Parts: sequence; C-alpha cells; structure tokens
Amino acid sequence: MTAELIDGKVHAAAVRAKMRDRVAVLTAQCGQAPGLAVVLVGEDPASEVYVRSKGKQAAGAGMKSFEYRLPAHATQEELLDLIERLNTDPQVHGILVQLPLPGHLESRHVINTISPAKDVDGFHISNVGMVGTGQDAIVPCTPLGCMMMLRHYYDDFRGRTALVIGHSNVVGKPMARLLLNADCTVIIAHKSSTNIPELARLADILVVAAGVPGLVKADWIKPGATVIDVGINRIAAPEIGEGKHRLVGDVDFENVRDVAGAITPVPGGVGPMTIACLLANTLSAFCHQLHLPDEELLLED
Ligand code: GUN
Repeated sequence: MTAELIDGKVHAAAVRAKMRDRVAVLTAQCGQAPGLAVVLVGEDPASEVYVRSKGKQAAGAGMKSFEYRLPAHATQEELLDLIERLNTDPQVHGILVQLPLPGHLESRHVINTISPAKDVDGFHISNVGMVGTGQDAIVPCTPLGCMMMLRHYYDDFRGRTALVIGHSNVVGKPMARLLLNADCTVIIAHKSSTNIPELARLADILVVAAGVPGLVKADWIKPGATVIDVGINRIAAPEIGEGKHRLVGDVDFENVRDVAGAITPVPGGVGPMTIACLLANTLSAFCHQLHLPDEELLLED
C-alpha cells in the first residue's frame, strides 16, 4: 500500500480562501477588519521568519496586522504593559506573543496576561481549561490544523484509537484533548514511555510531535493508519551539498508511507496549516468580540 499524501498546502490554501471571503463580508458589514497583533521580543532569526509570515498572511486575508518589537533586554513590566494596552485596543482582536521569550521573562505569566478572548494561540490557562473540559474555546493552532486535516478522513472518531507521541503544552496535550473531546480512544506517549512501538501498532490515528527525526518506523504502523507528523527537524544533508540542511519530520516517511493509509509530508504537511489556523482563530475572536455569529469554520471541512 502507498499512503495517500495529506497535502497541508492545499488544505491551508482552502482555509485561507475561506478566511479571505468571510473577512471581506464581515469588514463590509461592520466597517472594521479583524486585527492581529504579533509581539516579538529579541531577534531570534527563526522567530523573525515566523512573525513576518504571520503578519503577511493576516494582511493577505484582509486583516489588519500589527507588529510590535521589543529589544531582547526588555523587562517583564514593559512586555506586560504592552499586552495590557493591546488587551484594551479596539482595533486588536487577536494577540500573539512569539515564543520562546528571552530567559529572564516568565512566559507563563506573560501568556496569562493576554485577554483570554484575544488569546489566538489558545495558550491562556482559561482557554486550556475550557478545551480540557470540552467547552468551546480558542484551540492552539497546530492541533487545530491537525484536527481539521483528520476530519477529512473521519466523520466520526468514535471507536477509533489514537496515539499522540509527545506531551507538550503546545501540541501533544491539546491534540490529545481534542481527540478525546471527539470521543476517540486516546493514548499519550512521551519520552519516558517504554513501549511506544506496541502502543503505535494499536493506533488508527498516529500524531507525532516528539522532535526526534525519523523516530516512527514502518513496523510501528497499523496498516492503513492515518499518520500526522508534526515534527520539523533541520538535519545536515551533505548529499545535496557541503553545509546544506533539509527539513525532516519525526516519521521515517519513505518507509512508513508503504504501510500507512494516509500521511502528512514534512515539509508541506502540518506546517502550512498552523498559520492558516491562526487566521481562523483571529477571525473567530473578532466574531466573538463583536457578537457576530461564528460559523464554526474551524472544525468543519
Ligand atoms: N513559537 C513557535 N510556535 C509558536 C506558536 O504556535 N505560537 C507562539 N506564540 N510562539 C511560537
């Protein structure tokens, strides 16, 4: 069997197109566009790339994009002051503080200072708790993107078994909660688990966010399973030139694709969906703040 390729670029383009259309209608209706504020502290090159891309895609969807930069030595108080201002700014409906923050800043406190209604990352403890108890809330973008792609394959998750490898607050835990909220049977494995291959063989759905290149092998896979690879690992690739690198996932893609039913590639799988879901979360936050109906765009296909 050769697995069907789950093309994140195609899914993300469809989400972006839907966002553009709805933003155009709602902006004309309300006389105001959804606004996304992205805050970057310091000059981490990878974060700079992400922040630029988030701003560009928000603007491309017809949203207002605001970028705020603070120097790496900014104090916690300066950052919290900025967030408090954005919390009350009527032009800003979504706030994202790019992580990781420089070590002297307390990320948890910073995130919990963002108004939960504007927390388009879904990292505020109130949104985490609401998702954890199966209530409507803002859901972190990467697991939301994974769920949207999975919904193309599963109308109903009941009776399915999912294994989530990785228990980070950003991906693994919210992913497991979303699958559980959909009545999937969910197993969570992580770096202290000793029997991951056996657990994986039980899984109809495998979501991997471990940060270990090529961790998941073909003989771990239940034939026909759906495999979502969240890993993005930059590895040396001398075969394409001296000093060159390439991106690989946490799944041994070339071999696993012979056993799985469907699989996301890296790059071009989960990655493009993450920013598309940020736009979806921003639009949803805008709708809630303006008391407009939110058409449940996110988890439908
Ligand atoms: N850094 C890497 N990924 C993310 C993300 O999804 N949100 C934020 N705020 N920072 C990140």
